[in-house]
Amino acid sequence: MRVGLARESAAGERRVALVPDGVERVARAGVDVLVERGAGGASMLGDEAYVAAGATLVDGFDAVAAGADVLVKVQKPSPKEVAALREGTVLVGFLQPLTDPDGVARLAAQGVTAFALEAIPRITRAQAMDALSSQSTVAGYKAVLLAAERLPKFFPMLMTAAGTVAPARVLVLGAGVAGLQAIATARRLGAVVSAFDTRPVVKEQVESLGATFLELGVQGEETAGGYAADLTDEQRRLQQEALTRAIGDNDVVVTTALVPGRPAPKLITADAVASMRAGSVIVDLAAEAGGNCELTERDAEVVRHGVTILGPTNLPSTMPLHASQLLSRNVSALLGHLIADGELSLDFADEITAGACVTRGRVAATS
Ligand code: NAI
Repeated sequence: MRVGLARESAAGERRVALVPDGVERVARAGVDVLVERGAGGASMLGDEAYVAAGATLVDGFDAVAAGADVLVKVQKPSPKEVAALREGTVLVGFLQPLTDPDGVARLAAQGVTAFALEAIPRITRAQAMDALSSQSTVAGYKAVLLAAERLPKFFPMLMTAAGTVAPARVLVLGAGVAGLQAIATARRLGAVVSAFDTRPVVKEQVESLGATFLELGVQGEETAGGYAADLTDEQRRLQQEALTRAIGDNDVVVTTALVPGRPAPKLITADAVASMRAGSVIVDLAAEAGGNCELTERDAEVVRHGVTILGPTNLPSTMPLHASQLLSRNVSALLGHLIADGELSLDFADEITAGACVTRGRVAATS
C-alpha cells in the first residue's frame, strides 16, 4: 500500500499535507510513502527531510497520482489533477464538500473515494483529526497580527514620559476556534477585547480569556455538531442594531462568524463601517463565505470611510510551517484511522469514516 503526498498547485497555497514527521508516522503503519518532489518547499521543508523520514521522491503530480493508493493534499485537486487520479484512489484533503458540488461530482465520476477534512465529525474521538480547528487557530492568531500592523495605534496601554496611551479596543465577532484564538492574541498584545457569538455557551470561554462578552439580547441555537444554527429574521435584525452601536466604539473588529454551507451572516453593514473612527481596521475571516462585512472584498485590502478592511481567505498559508505541522498531525491521525496493518481498512459503519467520506468509489471496504 502506498500513500502519496502531492505538492500544492493552487495559487498562493504554501502548506503541505504531511511534514516529514507525519511521513514517519504514516510509514510506521507499514505503508510506503511517495512524495512529489518540492512538496514541502514552500513550508521550508526540503526534499531531503522527507527522504530521511523514509519517503521515496517522485517527479510531478501525475507520477504521485499513478503510484499512490491514498493521495493526500491540502487543497482540492484541480480538474486536470482529478483526471490523473486512478479509479479507486482514496483522496484526503480540504475538498469543500458544501460549497463545491461540481468538484465533488468530478471526483465521484472519476471513481475516487474522497475524504474531506472539513467533514470529519466534531466528536471527541476525532479531535486529533480536526483540521478545521488547527487551521482556524492559525487564522485567528494571524488576523490579529495583521490588524495590529495596520492600526495607526498601539494595542497596549502605555504610560511613558511623553504621555499615556490608551489601549486599543478590539471586537471579535464569532468566538469559535478562530475567534477564541484572536481574543487570546489581542489580549496578549494588551488590547481591551470584547466578543460576541450567538452560541450562549461561548460566554464563559470568552470571559476566561479576559475579554468581555457583548450582551446583544440575541441567543441562537447550537447544532449537534457544535456549530451555529441560522438565526431567525427577527433575531438577525435585533442583533444588527445592537452590533452597529458596538462596532463604532472599537478600533479593530475581527470577524469569524460562519454557518457551515451558508453564506456568512452580514454583521457589519456599510453604515457600521462609516461609524468607525478613521484608521480603524476590520479583518474579515469569513471572506471565503462572502464576508461578515458588507464592504469586504475577497483576498483584498480596501479602505472605505477611512477604515481598512482585509478579506484574506487563506491566512494559514501565510504561516506555512506551523500550519503544515498541525495539519500533518490531523492528516496522519486520519490516515491512522483508515489504515490497519499496512492496508486500507474502510469501515463505513464507523462515524468518522462515514462522516468524512464525500464520494465512494470502488475500493476494498470492510463493511
Ligand atoms: P465556525 O468557524 O463554524 O463559526 C465561527 C463562530 O461564528 C462560531 O462560534 C459560531 O457560533 C459563530 N457565529 C455564527 N453565526 C454568528 C452570528 N450571526 N453572530 C455571531 N457569531 C456567529 O465555528 P468553529 O470555530 O469551527 O467552531 C464551532 C464550534 O465547534 C465551537 O464551539 C468549537 O468549540 C466546537 N468544536 C468542537 C470540537 C469537538 O471536538 N468536540 C472540535 C472543534 C470545535
